[in-house]
Amino acid sequence: MPIAAALEIHPNLQKFLSKKSHPLLIGGRWAESASGKVFKTHNPATGEVLASVSEADSKDVDAAVSAARKALEGPWSKMSPAERERVLNKIADLVEAHSEELAQLETLNNGKTIREAKNGDLPLTIGLWRYFAGWPTKIHGETIPVSVPYYPGAKFLHYTVREPVGVIGAIIPWNFPLLMAVERLAPALACGNAVVLKPAEQTPLSALRLGELLLEAGLPEGVVNIIPGFGPTAGAALAAHSGVDKITFTGSTEVGREILKASAGNLKRVTLELGGKSPNIVFADADLEAAAKGMFMGVFYNQGQCCSAGSRIFVEKSKYEEMVQILAERAKTVRQGPGLDPKTQMGPLVSEEQRNRVLSYIESGKKEGAKLLAGGEAASGPGYFVKPTVFSDVGDSMKIAREEIFGPVASVMPFDSVDEVVSRANASPYGLVAAVWTKDVKKAHQMAQKIQAGTVWINCYHFVDAAAPWGGFKQSGYGREKSQYAIESYTQLKSVWVDLN
Ligand code: NAI
Ligand code: MG
Repeated sequence: MPIAAALEIHPNLQKFLSKKSHPLLIGGRWAESASGKVFKTHNPATGEVLASVSEADSKDVDAAVSAARKALEGPWSKMSPAERERVLNKIADLVEAHSEELAQLETLNNGKTIREAKNGDLPLTIGLWRYFAGWPTKIHGETIPVSVPYYPGAKFLHYTVREPVGVIGAIIPWNFPLLMAVERLAPALACGNAVVLKPAEQTPLSALRLGELLLEAGLPEGVVNIIPGFGPTAGAALAAHSGVDKITFTGSTEVGREILKASAGNLKRVTLELGGKSPNIVFADADLEAAAKGMFMGVFYNQGQCCSAGSRIFVEKSKYEEMVQILAERAKTVRQGPGLDPKTQMGPLVSEEQRNRVLSYIESGKKEGAKLLAGGEAASGPGYFVKPTVFSDVGDSMKIAREEIFGPVASVMPFDSVDEVVSRANASPYGLVAAVWTKDVKKAHQMAQKIQAGTVWINCYHFVDAAAPWGGFKQSGYGREKSQYAIESYTQLKSVWVDLN
């Protein structure tokens, strides 16, 4: 097995990876793609091939959508809410029981450190299953006291019912492969929908292993179909499919726009989560030690491959030089290596393409005159490593201050006043998250009101929970994932009138 790592690979994972190729899951059965084509997926820490995976295209999308539709008409729709809860809890138990091997698989296919996979991705994934397992018995409508002006004195019973949307197409990225899948699957299933999941082509493996666990948990056939493939083929076919009732997408803004256009054919519902260029704002009166950790983790977590990366760091002028130096010194000491090595603090980027994209942003930062204080280049050796990079003296109009880099690159900028930093922080087409560091409670809440973002963290960063809504303002997308608001978006409301006269 071509795996550079200090950790022993879990026997279940060895077995999973020893498969000659990994088929698609359609209608409860594992099958090759209609075309018979396969593609290779890699270990980004070495660049070596990890596995071969069946490649879905539009024919497989058709089959998966039909299987999902059939499942909606079959035993799935007849299950009581309590039975659906039991299935979801069983899935949560199985994912928990297999969390060690799933964390290793995530690390191997995505590159992230095993520490992050074990302490972040897996507990959050299990948390999503458990949170949404509690919902099926709590999804209900209301009775509404209606009046009909043209029928004075008449009596009616009016009530609402929440029904599943139908077939959900989920198109997800590679930065948190399992977590992104379950963020869609758990609420969709809690609400009684069926799903066609297209994992990212870079990281299809954990979704496929999850598919095995879903069947083991007794999920009826066709309720979840998993079809790895490429964006312009499988992804585009799913987004345009007239048998799909809703698309949930996380990825680039560019593809978000394509998905929206493709949805127009049958006016399917769409939720989009499209990343950001998030401000992390440190006031001079903050707990500077905590803020320094928050700056570091905010921008470098998951190698900076987070939609919520705090990549625009604003520091109040009197503490600017000090904070920039702390960040740069810490960046220089980061231990990079294969994610499976428990000593590794930062893994590789997911692919050669992403490494090149990030390096080209670094070059543009140098060219536009930002001051490079740490990193600034690829690490030597195999794998797609980029050294954690810190730029100071970054101008607001520079490309590195405006565009999502999706890599370990921090741009640090000084500011003078609240009004100034608010207007600079909001001067972005994005609005996913923001953070504010200050001990002044009033200032913190004033900032939370003024910042245009779907999530504002005060004296913390990257905190997420299944119960807290997640989504963007402005071009960071629309709709909310997780929380009770996901329940709203994975159901549709029916209004029923009964004449009592
Ligand atoms: P992408 O947006 O191309 O890929 C995300 C998903 O969309 C994948 O499953 C892909 O197969 C699918 N896709 C691609 N083209 C499609 C199409 N025409 N129709 C339907 N589905 C399609 O993102 P990519 O190219 O991997 O990364 C490029 C940049 O996008 C990153 O550097 C980053 O800035 C941003 N991005 C943001 C993410 C976030 O969490 N918000 C996640 C991944 C990427
Ligand atoms: Mg792309």
